[in-house]
Amino acid sequence: MIIAVDGPTASGKGTIAKALAAHFGLPHLDTGLLYRAVGRQVFLNSGNPDDAADALAACTFDAALLDDPELRTEVSGGYASRVSIHPAVRAALFTRQQVFANQPGGAVLDGRDIATVIAPQADAKLFITATVSARAMRRWAEMKGLGVDVDRTEIEADLEARDTRDRNRAEAPLRQADGAELLDTSRLTKEMAVATAIALVEKQVTAKP
Ligand code: C5P
Repeated sequence: MIIAVDGPTASGKGTIAKALAAHFGLPHLDTGLLYRAVGRQVFLNSGNPDDAADALAACTFDAALLDDPELRTEVSGGYASRVSIHPAVRAALFTRQQVFANQPGGAVLDGRDIATVIAPQADAKLFITATVSARAMRRWAEMKGLGVDVDRTEIEADLEARDTRDRNRAEAPLRQADGAELLDTSRLTKEMAVATAIALVEKQVTAKP
């Protein structure tokens, strides 16, 4: 069974995807981490994330980079969002994601274009959303937990900038795929969101001919 989970930053899609993987006993790929690694590698190369050649050169990043805690920072998220607009970068990361999705037994992948580009044949598709203020609040609490003091309005502005870039890019823009179930997590606890996601997956799988 392939489960595709898409949605904007801090919508809860990562938490939901991880919980679905545990619940259904499937391997999980956080595809955002691949784009973050490319962004980080551009930074380490002193390159320009808006330059297609610099961004493509960074796609050969070492696998060990995926464990770098720096990938989780807002700076890496911003770089990831900028490198991800280049079609050559998306093409370079495509096969890796597709192979993961099509492994025997299936998988859970989360990202922006899983149900639209990477695995349109997925058995279950979820599009996770939440209001910008709910997402900024979560991101702020997460950063605070890590001991990083950041301004909430700054986080909100950053999220909006990334949303705009992700939704309006020409290649694989963020959008709800045909047949994807919408799940708004703004007013849900983590437990409620996960339980709803499991129910939506079961509904879609049962409804399949
Ligand atoms: O999900 P996460 O916030 O880690 O993703 C970082 C950035 O990587 C996103 O803002 C988006 O621009 C890009 N991305 C993408 N396609 C994916 C996953 C992430 O373009 N499948």
